[in-house]
Amino acid sequence: MAILPIVTVPDPLLKEISTPVEVVDDALRKLMDDMLETMYAAPGIGLAAVQVGRPIRLLVMDLAEEDAEPDPQFYVNPELTWTSDELATYNEGCLSIPEQYADIDRPAECKISYLDYHGVEQMVHATGLFSTCIQHELDHLNGIVFIDYLSALKRGMYVRKVKKLVKEE
Ligand code: NI
Repeated sequence: MAILPIVTVPDPLLKEISTPVEVVDDALRKLMDDMLETMYAAPGIGLAAVQVGRPIRLLVMDLAEEDAEPDPQFYVNPELTWTSDELATYNEGCLSIPEQYADIDRPAECKISYLDYHGVEQMVHATGLFSTCIQHELDHLNGIVFIDYLSALKRGMYVRKVKKLVKEE
């Protein structure tokens, strides 16, 4: 496995619409494994392929508690098939917007269809942090990051902070 460089704002790649994955093969599984290792090293709980420079519809996540067994999850061509009317607010962060956080409202529950690590069709009903996280990651596939939900003023402030951080590294 390999740790891949993570793209940060304001890289225009993060605005790209990711394209569907055509086949779940060993090459794709290698990318999934590398993305998982990259996410664990960051550390983070979710990562979209576009964040490592590959604008294809692929996500990895792991929401296991720190002292629990790892629970890697892979979502190929995920699609939102239902969202609840009820909203939930979480203080979100993003590996492409390091060290910045903001309260974001999203549907509290959702249903997602996707292909798993082996290319098998699956469906999941997500609630709580799982629901927030998968919607945040799905946004990446559509060129949206969480600061896009904020005012232009706030967004500009976050981008400047990230630019400064990246420069200092
Ligand atoms: Ni993110």
